[in-house]
Amino acid sequence: MDYTGKVIVITGASSGIGEQSAEEFAKLHANVILVSRNEVQLQKIAARLSKYQIKTFVYACDVSDKDQVDKMGKIIIEKFDTIDVLVNNAGFGICNTVEKTTIGELESQMSTNFLGMMYCTKIFLPQLLKQRSGHIVNVASVAGSIGIPGMAAYCASKFAMLGFSESLFHELKGTGVGVTVVSPIMVRTNFFKHESFGTMPRYSATSLDPKTVANAVVRAASSPRLEIVVPQFVRIAIWMKQTFPYLINPIVGGIFRKSMKPKLD
Ligand SMILES: NC(=O)c1ccc[n+]([C@@H]2O[C@H](COP(=O)([O-])OP(=O)(O)OC[C@H]3O[C@@H](n4cnc5c(N)ncnc54)[C@H](OP(=O)(O)O)[C@@H]3O)[C@@H](O)[C@H]2O)c1
Repeated sequence: MDYTGKVIVITGASSGIGEQSAEEFAKLHANVILVSRNEVQLQKIAARLSKYQIKTFVYACDVSDKDQVDKMGKIIIEKFDTIDVLVNNAGFGICNTVEKTTIGELESQMSTNFLGMMYCTKIFLPQLLKQRSGHIVNVASVAGSIGIPGMAAYCASKFAMLGFSESLFHELKGTGVGVTVVSPIMVRTNFFKHESFGTMPRYSATSLDPKTVANAVVRAASSPRLEIVVPQFVRIAIWMKQTFPYLINPIVGGIFRKSMKPKLD
């Protein structure tokens, strides 16, 4: 796929997977629109990406706020006339049991990770359909297929993202517009800096480099598939869990309970 001059909107572009995805698209000479709440950080990234001789545009927006997303969408469409790829990547997780997590904390994960994705999709989809081209990439997680103890609301937001995307995938058949979910395992980013993770070990030997996931995001932007699991072999674990839940759930639950022990005690 030739991304030269294409317009790519990336939410959660101030850090981690979003920041790296912006760089991978910039390397392919796409123009990138960087969205997150931290404008100063986005400006720094935009300045760094200028070496690729592309257009960048920074927009500070809290994706969990419907009105802010509405305004952001209108301004971007007016400024660029067209958008080619929307990467719904903004998200975060709070690590604690349901019992110890406040209602506000449970709601905030759903609002950013799921509703934020839905608001952004709603604002850009009419433009994509009008153009009869373009792609939506939703960054979910393997936690969108496997429930992890200590991450209930986060998992719920990613399960919801997967369900929403699957329905949309069927609706979009024949429109020229596509949707693909990218579902990675653990990635080495600021995600685990949230205070709720406390002193828990943040990265395992298997956790991914954000660049690996960013490359999957770029692949996803022209993929006919519904979901890309990163790394691919983890799809087998998901299939096993869905096919033999009575066998796999106790094993998966046991492994995660052990790693989450400081939080669950
Ligand atoms: N790291 C992992 O292990 C992992 C695994 C699977 C999936 N994921 C998913 O990957 C995505 C990116 O996470 P990451 O690992 O790259 O973490 P990260 O480095 O913490 O980046 C999260 C990004 O989301 C933005 N964000 C958070 N809340 C926002 C809001 N309300 N409005 C707008 N932007 C918001 C943050 O920017 P501001 O603070 O500037 O707003 C930041 O740019 C998330 O959806 C996460 O669930 C992560």
